Amino acid sequence: MKTAIFATLTVPLLLATPLLWAQDADALLAETRKTALPVLPKVVKAMQSAVQEQGAIAAIAVCKEKAPQLLQEIRSQTGWDIRRVSLKTRNATTGKPDAWEVRQLADFNIRVANGAKPEQLEIGEIVSGYDGKRTYRYMKALPVAEVCQTCHGPADSLSSDLKAALASDYPHDRATGYATGEVRGALSVKRPL
Ligand code: HEC
Repeated sequence: MKTAIFATLTVPLLLATPLLWAQDADALLAETRKTALPVLPKVVKAMQSAVQEQGAIAAIAVCKEKAPQLLQEIRSQTGWDIRRVSLKTRNATTGKPDAWEVRQLADFNIRVANGAKPEQLEIGEIVSGYDGKRTYRYMKALPVAEVCQTCHGPADSLSSDLKAALASDYPHDRATGYATGEVRGALSVKRPL
């Protein structure tokens, strides 16, 4: 009898859990996009005008300070962990991906190689840790636009002044050699649930 009651109560609950998660995931995706994505065109625009008006060396500050500062603003408003990651970092201290992020970045590259548009690549997933805690994880690819090539293009296309400026701040820079239309990295969001 006890077993029957237990089954009546738990079976529908167990069946409903993935469904609830699916609804959760849709709502989380919509909210994450709405909160985190508007910053991206702002960074690209700031980068374009800085390169045009002040030149590449002065524009380094946009990728170095302005972009992290705009992300910090979202972090303090939301409490989410939000940062930029890449498989080939310029600043490994802040941009090194964790295992989940490495997997998604590799997947983004595979999808681009198979013809996907980099600006359309994103992934959102509810992830359960070993401790049972759930986290919502989201990543959006950052495509290499023409302006990005100024500092992330093939090393021999960069002026020697710019190379020297980058080398003095980033002796372990791996973030050159990119072509337009590739994935430079991603915006990555982690939300504790
Ligand atoms: C004027 C030079 C310059 C331009 C142009 C530039 N970047 Fe960067 N980028 C940098 C520097 C410098 C860093 C290291 C920032 C830091 O210290 O956190 C960086 C870091 C990054 C990172 C963080 C991961 C890492 O490698 O450390 C991403 C992602 C990135 N850039 C994407 C882009 C994209 C996309 C564009 C074009 C829209 C772009 N950058 C244009 C100089 C530049």
